[in-house]
Amino acid sequence: MPLKADAPDNPFLQGLLEPVHDERDDPGLVVEGELPSTLRGIFTRNGPNPQFTPNGAYHPFDGDGMVHALYFEDGGVRYRNRWIESAGLLAERKRGRACYGSVSEFLSTPQDVIDEAGFMKNNANTHFVRHGGRFLALMEAGKPTELTRELETVGEYDYAGRLEGPMTAHPKIDPVTGEMVFFGYSPMPPYLQYYVADRNGGIVHHAVIDIPNPVMMHDFAVTRNYTLFLDSPVVFDVDAMFRGEPGIRWEPELGTRLGVLPRRGSADQIRWFTIDTCSVVHFFNAWEAGNRIEIYAPTFASMPGGLRFDAPVQSEEPFPFHWSLDLTAGTVAGEWMDDRPGEFPRINDDLACRQTRYLYNSLARDWAFEFNFNGVIKYDLETGGTQEYVYGPNETSGEHAFAPDPQGVAEDDGWLMSIVSDRETRKSYLSVLDARDVGAGPVARVHIPRRVPIGFHANWIAES
Ligand SMILES: [Fe+2]
Repeated sequence: MPLKADAPDNPFLQGLLEPVHDERDDPGLVVEGELPSTLRGIFTRNGPNPQFTPNGAYHPFDGDGMVHALYFEDGGVRYRNRWIESAGLLAERKRGRACYGSVSEFLSTPQDVIDEAGFMKNNANTHFVRHGGRFLALMEAGKPTELTRELETVGEYDYAGRLEGPMTAHPKIDPVTGEMVFFGYSPMPPYLQYYVADRNGGIVHHAVIDIPNPVMMHDFAVTRNYTLFLDSPVVFDVDAMFRGEPGIRWEPELGTRLGVLPRRGSADQIRWFTIDTCSVVHFFNAWEAGNRIEIYAPTFASMPGGLRFDAPVQSEEPFPFHWSLDLTAGTVAGEWMDDRPGEFPRINDDLACRQTRYLYNSLARDWAFEFNFNGVIKYDLETGGTQEYVYGPNETSGEHAFAPDPQGVAEDDGWLMSIVSDRETRKSYLSVLDARDVGAGPVARVHIPRRVPIGFHANWIAES
C-alpha cells in the first residue's frame, strides 16, 4: 500500500527528510578549515521539498523541487534556496493546499487543477545543470525547467518546440565539443527518444529509438563517438497505473541489453548486446579504448527498492560493475569491481565521455530509500587502490560533486563537495574534501545557517 503523508511510518517527511518552509539568503557563511582560494562557482543541490502537506500518499519523487545553492565568490560563500515554481505549484499556491496526487495516486488530482496546470506536476526536483547559457532544473518525467543563476523560475524550456517529450535528469555534456547528449523515456509510445544539442543549446539531432517495452531509464552513458542505453526489465504497466495499482514491475524474464548508437546515429544503427540481467540507476562514465567500450556503473542484481512507488522497501545493494564491449567481436565481458555498496557515482566531468582514472561513489549505511549516505570512496583504476572517508555516526551525507581546480593539472586536482547533516543537532554544512586525499576527511566545512533536507543530485557549476 502507498505510504500516506501523515502515516507515522512514512520516513520521507521526517527526520533529515522533513521539508523546510522558507526561502533564505545568507551571506558570509562561516568556514571552518581552509577553502580552496581558486574556486569560483556555484555548488547546487536539488531535491524534493513539498510546500504543502501532501493530502494522500507521498513519495520523494512527488515533492516540489527546491534548489539549495552555495555561491563561491570573491567575498566568500553565500547561501540561497528557492522553490522551483512549476505551473502545478502555482496552482496549489492559488488554492492554498496540495492538489496533485502522488505518483502512486495520480488519478486523485482535481480536474480544475489539471485544466489549469496540466495532468502532472513537473516538479523539476532531481538535478540542476548549465548548458548553452541556460540553467536547467531537471526531472525525468517532464521537460526541463529554466531558472536564472539566482534560482528564479523562468518556466519550462522545450528547445523552441524541438523537444517532443520528457528529458532525462542526467544529460551528458561533452567537455570537448560542448554538446549536450540526452534522451527522454516515456511509459507511452514512443518509449525512447534521443537528442543532441550543440554547444549553443540548439537541438541538432533527434531520433526515435525502438525498444519493445516501456522501461524506466534514469541514466545512460556517452563516449566520444557512441551513446549507450541500458534496456533493463524495470517495466511500466500503464493499465495498472490507471487502475490505481503499482505501475512499475521487475520482469527479469525480459532480460537486460546494452544498446550502442553512434552519437548522431539513426535508430537502425543501434547494436544491442545482451548482458546478465541487472538494473542501473546511475553510471560513472564510459569511454572507447581501441575497438572496445568500457562502461562503469553501480549495478543492482534486480530492481532498486526505491523505484517501488507503492512502498519503500529495503533495497538490493548496488555494487560497482565494469562492462567491456568488443565492437569487433560483438561480445561483452563483465565483472564486479568491489564489495562495498555505493551509489551517486561521479567523476571529474571535465573528462566526461573520455577515459578516467578515478571514479567517486557515495557510501551508505543501509539501502532503505532514505538516502542514508555516510561517506565517499575513490577508485583508482590504474593501481586498483581505493581511498574512503566515512562521516560521523550521526551524520548523513549526499552526492559528492567534483569541483575541478581551475589551476589543476592531474585528473584528481579538485575537491569533492557534499552537504552533510547531523541527525541530533539538525544542522548542515558543506563538506569539502581534497580529491587527492579523500581519506583525510574534509579540508573545509562551510556552515549553512539552516538544515538542508536530504535530497537528490548535487552539482558544481564553475564560473565560466
Ligand atoms: Fe539520478
